[in-house]
Amino acid sequence: MPRVLTPIAELRPRREPPVNDLRQREQAWIAQRAAATHCRECPLGALATQTVWGEGPIGAPLMLVGEQPGDQEDLQGRPFVGPAGRLMDRALKELGWDRSIAYVTNAVKHFKFVPAPRGKRRMHKTPAQREADACEHWLESEIALVQPQAIVALGATAARQLLKRAIPVLRERGHWLDRPDGRKVLITLHPSALLRVDPAERDAAFSAWLRDLALASHYARAHAARQ
Ligand code: URA
Repeated sequence: MPRVLTPIAELRPRREPPVNDLRQREQAWIAQRAAATHCRECPLGALATQTVWGEGPIGAPLMLVGEQPGDQEDLQGRPFVGPAGRLMDRALKELGWDRSIAYVTNAVKHFKFVPAPRGKRRMHKTPAQREADACEHWLESEIALVQPQAIVALGATAARQLLKRAIPVLRERGHWLDRPDGRKVLITLHPSALLRVDPAERDAAFSAWLRDLALASHYARAHAARQ
């Protein structure tokens, strides 16, 4: 009887587990989240209270990516639970979405801060590019496991990390750009930027932000239709 040879490709060790099946992706996501808990690939992990991993359904058609956790997120261990998160939730509500239809995460998983000149407050500090790059593989693993059809980049850090190049957010807001993996990325402002707008102009800025986000409604509805 002729010997059946095992194809070479099957003999090579696989570098990554097969993650096509939803259940396997959920298991792999839990393992990644646990591994990130101990991340010390940049100095931020040692200073923050904890790693803030993303949240939301594996398989969500839409992913929202911010910059990094803030003070409240750092303390609670969940993304977008502080003032910026509340503004985001208000926007999602006005669009008829809610968090259950989107996966929400950050480009950087630890809070970077400086002490306020007075008092005990901790003030947000923009992460350095090397810190964002150290986190890149965590964000990429979330994208690979959630497999969103589209991603919303909230601000410049998220846009840079998702698209692998600097994006002029004010010029590109409201536009869909293509990631190297072919996924669409909608560019818009970070909600914290809206919180800094002059109060007299805040309503108009919020309405413009809603118009940007509404462009992703199609993907948000795709999830609701599947339920
Ligand atoms: N800003 C972000 O970019 N992410 C958060 O989770 C909170 C504030």
